[in-house]
Amino acid sequence: MSRIIAITNQKGGVGKTTTCVNLAASLSATRRSVLLVDLDPQGNATMGSGVDKRQLELSGYNLLLDDTPIEQIIVDAEVAGYHLLPANSDLTAAEVQLIQVEDREARLHRRLASVAANYDYVLIDCPPSLNMLTLNALTAADAVFIPIQCEYYALEGLSALLETVEQIRDAVNPGLEIEGLLRTMFDARNNLANQVSEQLLEHFGDKVYRTIIPRNIRLAEAPSHGTPVLKYDQASRGAIAYLALAGELVRREQERQAGPQHDTEAEDEDEAPPPDTAAVNDAEPNLSENAD
Ligand SMILES: Nc1ncnc2c1ncn2[C@@H]1O[C@H](COP(=O)(O)OP(=O)(O)O)[C@@H](O)[C@H]1O
Ligand SMILES: [Mg+2]
Repeated sequence: MSRIIAITNQKGGVGKTTTCVNLAASLSATRRSVLLVDLDPQGNATMGSGVDKRQLELSGYNLLLDDTPIEQIIVDAEVAGYHLLPANSDLTAAEVQLIQVEDREARLHRRLASVAANYDYVLIDCPPSLNMLTLNALTAADAVFIPIQCEYYALEGLSALLETVEQIRDAVNPGLEIEGLLRTMFDARNNLANQVSEQLLEHFGDKVYRTIIPRNIRLAEAPSHGTPVLKYDQASRGAIAYLALAGELVRREQERQAGPQHDTEAEDEDEAPPPDTAAVNDAEPNLSENAD
């Protein structure tokens, strides 16, 4: 069954696009079929997938505002290993024009309906704001995945985002889940990063992914070569972390499908399971060694 995941956080520079591109490539490497939907007018996910945003004939603009068949807009990002619904600055115009369109938050949802089943995963890269494009992503998605850079203001924006998710749930998309929170650009030598990480585990428990994405120069370099890190330096810590992330995503899904574990029926569990702080501690020495 296909699953649509919006990778979102209204803060810029927290690792949304990096996560979208590299998670898509890692899922593809494990033989899952993936469609990446670039919903950011900056088109960074498009470029990072090896597709030139300046040469698009069709893009997300056509997806949201006219009836061009979606199959004609999707391109094969061959180097990256997945299909891409590309974007460029035309999406800025689309965002403005959408305001006059009926059912404007549900455009993406309706357009994806005909192709989503062709893929195991549809990953949506959101722009850095809670605008109409992001609302389209949240309306279309089964779940949101939230990259968080562990720094001072990390938690502040989070409550606004979670409120928005709640509102979307109430209004149009009752099944919208929080898939998880992902610690990105993590530098274990930084005390503040460790403190924020602990706070996240305290507040969100099991929703915090065990996989931590370290700060890794290869992840920052790969986009300028128009490729996910897996094709650029597959032995890098960044590549290994995103492969682990794909593994965790798939494993969590399998566990959900298997249903509640036998021991959970024994008692009423109001509280989330205790956070696995050991995983963070274990990860530290390795991360700091190679945080480059
Ligand atoms: N784990 C990481 N290590 C090093 N650099 C990273 C990492 N993740 C992202 N970056 C870099 O940080 C910048 C912002 O990341 P990006 O994924 O574009 O964030 P967003 O999409 O949330 O704005 C980019 O230049 C990217 O290459
Ligand atoms: Mg981005």
